[in-house]
Amino acid sequence: MAFIPKDKITDIQSAADIVEIVSESVLLKKAGKDYKGLCPFHTEKTPSFTVSPEKQIFHCFGCGTGGNVFSFLMKQEGVSFPEAAKTLARRYGIEIPTQTMPPEERQRMDERENLFAVNRQAADFFHHSLLNSPAGEKAMTYLKKRGMTKETVDAFHIGYDSGWDNFTNYCLQKEISRELAEKAGLIGSKNGRFYDRFWDRIIFPIFDVGMRVIGFGGRVTDNSNPKRPKYYNSPETPLYNKSRSLYGLHRAKQKCRQSGIAYLTEGYVDVLSLYQHGIENAVATLGTAITPEHVRLLKGYVREVILVYDSDEAGIRAAQRSIGTFRKENMDVRILVLPSGYDPDAYLFEFGPESFTDAAEGALSAMSFLLDAAIKKHGLSVEGKIRILSEMKGSLASVHDSVARSLYIKDFADRIHVDESAVLEQVREVIFENKKKGLSRQHYPPKQLSDGPLSSPALRIEQQITSMMLQFPEILTEIHHRNLIEDFENETLKSVCQTILKHNNGSDGRVSELIGLMDDKKKRDMATSLAMKEDAWTREGCLSLIAQFESIRNRRKTAFLVQKMGAADDHEEMLSIGNEFQREKEIQAGIRQ
Ligand code: GTP
Ligand code: MN
Repeated sequence: MAFIPKDKITDIQSAADIVEIVSESVLLKKAGKDYKGLCPFHTEKTPSFTVSPEKQIFHCFGCGTGGNVFSFLMKQEGVSFPEAAKTLARRYGIEIPTQTMPPEERQRMDERENLFAVNRQAADFFHHSLLNSPAGEKAMTYLKKRGMTKETVDAFHIGYDSGWDNFTNYCLQKEISRELAEKAGLIGSKNGRFYDRFWDRIIFPIFDVGMRVIGFGGRVTDNSNPKRPKYYNSPETPLYNKSRSLYGLHRAKQKCRQSGIAYLTEGYVDVLSLYQHGIENAVATLGTAITPEHVRLLKGYVREVILVYDSDEAGIRAAQRSIGTFRKENMDVRILVLPSGYDPDAYLFEFGPESFTDAAEGALSAMSFLLDAAIKKHGLSVEGKIRILSEMKGSLASVHDSVARSLYIKDFADRIHVDESAVLEQVREVIFENKKKGLSRQHYPPKQLSDGPLSSPALRIEQQITSMMLQFPEILTEIHHRNLIEDFENETLKSVCQTILKHNNGSDGRVSELIGLMDDKKKRDMATSLAMKEDAWTREGCLSLIAQFESIRNRRKTAFLVQKMGAADDHEEMLSIGNEFQREKEIQAGIRQ
């Protein structure tokens, strides 16, 4: 982003008209001051996708996505920010001077562009040789034997490298820098000779969501040589990082958005197999455990992930680990356990897609899955049950919604035939311990654990204040002086407001520009939704809202301290909290600053 000068971005922003840009791919109809259409980012029958020409932003009230003209293009075309900016600049005749880039920046960008180019050339070369060389025919026969169609081979641009230096020679011929091909992980050298790293392998190009080739995976066509690993994947390069890439997302993204669900498998072939059986919302990790980055990437497309694992021990352990990662990132996850020895590809090959989707409907919630695994591990003897309870109580305690928690507890007690109240007691103990640990360390405001629905009056006020800050910038100085935002409970709103304060100190920056400064989807969506609201702000109205917030905050602050005192470990701690309490009271009464 840094290499497009800031004033150029402002120029583009002022020249581009969001209604015009959106209209190219979405049918818009005028509705009052705004325009409405069917959302391109989720399936809907009645339009809730709204574009505001006045604010130059869009927001879908159905799926919650929003942003400015840049974010729209990025999302719609799956491109990066600089690319979206370049597209718009070209369209509105704005020149972006590349010489203003710092030299290292320019070099890095050039190198990336070159690597993309060599990857693209390699992918085309391998694809061509799969379809047109005699040795490619052998590879194609192997693929066909595994049930793969020509259509899938084309759709995923699958290839084959039929000799040990074919691509090396191609580089020579086309004057492609060998150094570059080496850096891309396509060519290696041994005893002074260069060779193709993917020799005699079926090649699966790995694309990013912008449809560019970032790396490759290669599979041997027979498993008989124990010296050759079954798969060889690109090394980490400036373009390819396996803990941030998901195979197949470039094709799956549309279906993922429409259905809100993604299947996550472990192998290239699984994704292809699912695709071929009409299940297009599938992606795979690339020979690595699921990482927080993967989950965050998926968050841009779906609300729930179905992990597909095989029911052998390694599969179960992998699923258990993955559940933790999804939990930490606050993403819903279910687990589809296939019979032992079956991956999705083998399952589909034998039982077909209906059987797979039926099985997927019965995918287990994380909690049921963990319970099943614990029962399997410990058995239902008395000792087994004790171990199961001690293994599961932490998970049960970590369910924040109390209704959901009590349902899980009831279900749990039924499943292992123990008294519900005994389970409840143990879970409560964990909750109490956690609270105590958390509270004695915590400061006000307590960090909100999830961005659940905003329903409490306090959170509604935080929303209103954010909306006011977006629509009535005159009030920002007041907000700043009173240090209001620090005490926000909702982390997303807090962060949105901090961005507003930081970049809009008294000036009259446009909402669409502010939104461009928010790199987090959650923040952007929240901000556009609040900016779209039609409120008529007056200074008096604002001040009264601020006063309301302050009074709620004061009450909460003292309640928090009382609670903290109750959880204190010893007399000394109690005294210190008591002093804090006294001080807080004085500040609230205006006696102290
Ligand atoms: P098929 O055997 O062709 O059906 O592939 P698969 O995806 O079922 O293979 P498997 O379940 O053995 O492996 C799952 C994933 O792990 C693969 O897609 C690769 O990403 C990775 N993987 C498997 N074997 C190797 C290997 O030998 N080396 C490396 N680097 N990765 C591997
Ligand atoms: Mn397989």
